[in-house]
Amino acid sequence: MNKPSFQIKNATLWEKRAQEYPELSIQSVMFRFLPDEINYAIHQWQAKEITAALKKLQRKKKSLNVLDVGCGYGRLSKAIIKKYPNTKLTGLDVSATFIKHYKKFLGKGVTGITADLEKYNFKSRRYDVIIVTGVLIYLHDEERVLQAITKIKGLLKKDGIIIISENAIGAEKIYTGFGVLKLFKRLLQSPKKRASHTGDRKFSVPQMTRLITSAGLTIHHRAGIPRLTFSLPWLVIVRAINKTWFRTALKNALTVSDDPTYSLFMLFVAGVKK
Ligand SMILES: C[S@@+](CC[C@H](N)C(=O)[O-])C[C@H]1O[C@@H](n2cnc3c(N)ncnc32)[C@H](O)[C@@H]1O
Repeated sequence: MNKPSFQIKNATLWEKRAQEYPELSIQSVMFRFLPDEINYAIHQWQAKEITAALKKLQRKKKSLNVLDVGCGYGRLSKAIIKKYPNTKLTGLDVSATFIKHYKKFLGKGVTGITADLEKYNFKSRRYDVIIVTGVLIYLHDEERVLQAITKIKGLLKKDGIIIISENAIGAEKIYTGFGVLKLFKRLLQSPKKRASHTGDRKFSVPQMTRLITSAGLTIHHRAGIPRLTFSLPWLVIVRAINKTWFRTALKNALTVSDDPTYSLFMLFVAGVKK
């Protein structure tokens, strides 16, 4: 029997993952090994960065046309519509279940598309803002990532922006003790669980910078919360001892830096080159 293509395997795994978790579970789209409070803290930071990046455009236009690529159940689309209720939202995701949840979560007026980003023909739609968070890491190789960013760039209006937030390799080195924990996990994991793993790519900051600029975009802003990565072991221990201390420690770990090298997620805001 032929092996399923990388794209089919990726789509199948994501559909499975969407069905495996309860509706709107943050672990379905974020770190499965982290407690919800930490995932929510990262979510709050991303939501803040994204809504802040939209502010200038929002002042110029009555309503923004926003595309959320690989939207999941829509946690970030929700943050946008809450802050800017006039936004016209479109979510695209390879999982039909996530799109069902997206439409339910975001309510009437949103468009949901079940499709693979690489295969979908967007016709001539133009967007003011496109967000891509935790999606490029699931493409087959760097060349395909560049093609995807170039494709997304082609959907932007002249003054539009793209916000990319992806997992950083530098952070992974820290939280896996330079790969040691990952090796243990692989050895101990059941073959079934290993087979349901959704992708493993991470990007370095110079690599993502190169990919974004090679696609013909200019980077306006970059950010991350690296201190959180270094605090993870400490946070997990404190959480087990005292919830109040944990909340204080977590708050302190959320310091935003413009060097996202060791951040769990790096975030880039870029625009079409003038
Ligand atoms: C880590 S989750 C992030 C979801 C959402 N962007 C967020 O930050 O909450 C990755 C999402 O990308 C979707 N995805 C993965 N590969 C895709 C592809 N080739 N085309 C479209 N969506 C894809 C998955 O189904 C999943 O919802």
